[in-house]
Amino acid sequence: MKTRITELFGIEHPIIQGGMHYVGFAELASAVSNAGGLGLITGLTQRTPENLGKEIARCREMTDKPFGVNLTFLPAVTPPDYPGFIRAIIEGGVKIVETAGNNPQKYMPALKEAGIKVIHKCTAVRHALKAEAVGCDAVSVDGFECGGHPGEDDVPNMILLPRAAEALKIPFVASGGMADARSLVAALAMGADGMNMGTRFIATQEAPVHVHVKEAIVAASELDTRLIMRPLRNTERVLNNASVQRLLEKERELGPQLKFADIAEEIAGVYPAIMQRGDMDAGGWSCGMVAGLIHDIPTVKELIDRIMGESETLIRGRLEGMLATAA
Ligand SMILES: Cc1cc2nc3c(=O)[nH]c(=O)nc-3n(C[C@H](O)[C@H](O)[C@H](O)COP(=O)(O)O)c2cc1C
Repeated sequence: MKTRITELFGIEHPIIQGGMHYVGFAELASAVSNAGGLGLITGLTQRTPENLGKEIARCREMTDKPFGVNLTFLPAVTPPDYPGFIRAIIEGGVKIVETAGNNPQKYMPALKEAGIKVIHKCTAVRHALKAEAVGCDAVSVDGFECGGHPGEDDVPNMILLPRAAEALKIPFVASGGMADARSLVAALAMGADGMNMGTRFIATQEAPVHVHVKEAIVAASELDTRLIMRPLRNTERVLNNASVQRLLEKERELGPQLKFADIAEEIAGVYPAIMQRGDMDAGGWSCGMVAGLIHDIPTVKELIDRIMGESETLIRGRLEGMLATAA
């Protein structure tokens, strides 16, 4: 399939694996890139620019296809060494960066000077327009359904994607709730040039996370996620569990008085316990409503081949067939 996104990034299929904390290691990023999509290493999971440099080198050993790095700009008292991470990306020869969180304006000159293509992930049309204005090459439009941070507007992709198509000149991919060929074909119909998946890629053979995490996604339905941290205006969609229930109880009790410190036990630094040790009640972890559409744990290549094969059948069979019948 050829779209503005496959052309921009030099990839075979218009499918991107979004950056994911403690999931986006070289194993997954290289598997996605080897299967013809765009894999992303999650920069901040590496903690230091030196470690990120090593992870980039490790990924390069595993694939000769294009891959990228996710850089998430978080609200933080002591911000991570972003200039250092950008230096590691440039020195590692990476040519694609997915930014997320705050807009990347401050770092655009350094990235552009190094010939890096920037795709910014955002949850509102106004933020997508800002990304376009500061020189991003593409955006990833993350709807209310998404795992992780959906923002505070609560606009689902049925509305958000056509709105993005109306407003943007640069290409965009649909993100949030994407799982299969139906997602891809629908996203293309709504004006996107591809799709970005998070949760779906966790439930694959190559995702370097504990099998309990993959099994939890397969077992979950579309009703099993919860929104946490809304009172802090840092809303996150997570899989429901005992710890999330406890956190939500505190949110109800404290109302507008809630501070991050009140819920730190349920969310701060919990990813290693969940993703690596498979302790599923250790805290809240990002997961999309799309879990309801995930029923297996294929290899990344099986998943991507299936999506591309079924997309062709959907377009040539179902959609074209409907036109033929109507004529
Ligand atoms: C476990 C997990 C961790 C994530 N961590 C990050 C992150 O560190 N940075 C980021 O930009 N997005 C992060 N995301 C969001 C994904 O990149 C992607 O935008 C989102 O999962 C899309 O929605 P979906 O899960 O419905 O596919 C994370 C998502 C999940 C499920």
